Amino acid sequence: MTERPQISPPSGAPHARIYGVGGYRPERVVPNSELVEAIDSSDQWIRERSGIVSRRWAAPDETVVDMAEAAARQALDAAGLDASRIGAVLLATVTHPFQTPSAASLLTHRLGATPAAAMDISAACAGFCHGVALAGDMVRGGSAEYVLVVGVEKLSDFTDLSDRGTAFIFGDGAGAVVIGPSDTPGIGPTVWGSDGEQWDAIRQRESWIAVRDGKTEWPHITMAGQTVFRWAVWQMAPVAQQALEKAGISADQLDAFIPHQANMRIIDSMIKALHLPPGIPVARDIAETGNTSAASIPLAMERMLREGEAPHGGLALLIGFGAGLSYAAQVVTLP
Ligand SMILES: CC(C)(COP(=O)(O)OP(=O)(O)OC[C@H]1O[C@@H](n2cnc3c(N)ncnc32)[C@H](O)[C@@H]1OP(=O)(O)O)[C@@H](O)C(=O)NCCC(=O)NCCS
Repeated sequence: MTERPQISPPSGAPHARIYGVGGYRPERVVPNSELVEAIDSSDQWIRERSGIVSRRWAAPDETVVDMAEAAARQALDAAGLDASRIGAVLLATVTHPFQTPSAASLLTHRLGATPAAAMDISAACAGFCHGVALAGDMVRGGSAEYVLVVGVEKLSDFTDLSDRGTAFIFGDGAGAVVIGPSDTPGIGPTVWGSDGEQWDAIRQRESWIAVRDGKTEWPHITMAGQTVFRWAVWQMAPVAQQALEKAGISADQLDAFIPHQANMRIIDSMIKALHLPPGIPVARDIAETGNTSAASIPLAMERMLREGEAPHGGLALLIGFGAGLSYAAQVVTLP
């Protein structure tokens, strides 16, 4: 009997870290006052219940790929890396309006990163942290030396402006990071999961088949606000706590807490549940950016670093959570 040949094992870097971050905010600022009439609301109600003062909307002809490209170029510049060095592009979004091909493959081409592997991630507001987890594993596993991770949404295309539960929450934008090899750990173990029993809690209201059959004109995103609120407040703080424990970091050692920008009240509840010491900077980008789903964490990270609110090289706890329901959290070293 002949012996089977042995496959050469993959070999990667000892560790991975984030090298650069970039963010793109569309030009148009949409204040609460523009939205209140259609939903019989008020600027005060929206500020009190969500913490949102304004959000950005992309121009009608501005696409998910356009926004992703702007954020990605900034991240590559910040990392000092040529696009040709990227081995894989992971793009988290739920608002790329083509079932196929991926937004990632067009982005890869536009950046000059071809033939990098390219794929989209559908994990809604947890998508960016899923991307960070996968990229870190890819770098350590040897499937890519550098990975571009993008979170991008054009939620204005999928928001029903007459829906009181969602019209004021969502915004548009893109954030990106470059992840690559490192001698020291820059991405902690990821705590992630899903709960498909709550598949209905946030979702595209109707399927594309219903659109085809004329049962609806357009499938907007809908949300059971209170269900999501309770889930986020009660179930997500323990996930963030586990990510800290697995990284061997205590809350008082953090330099920043960058949770998904879902709702300011959810952020405040998580701070309490985590017993986060008062001096630790917390991302509150939602006030001027709204909830940009997959883009919210990298956008908030970019702002905190740019404004000097969080230190380069500091430790940050990230947690994304949303439709699926799905979630992912990890501690990272800021670029
Ligand atoms: C959407 C959200 C702000 C609504 O707040 P809420 O307190 O749950 O609102 P409710 O639906 O219970 O309604 C409470 C009251 O406000 C009113 N209301 C609801 N929407 C309103 C609006 N947009 N403007 C003004 N009043 C509104 C309701 O009519 C109700 O009035 P009543 O007490 O007189 O009956 C809240 O549920 C939320 O933030 N959920 C989480 C959403 C989220 O973060 N999603 C992203 C996760 S990725």
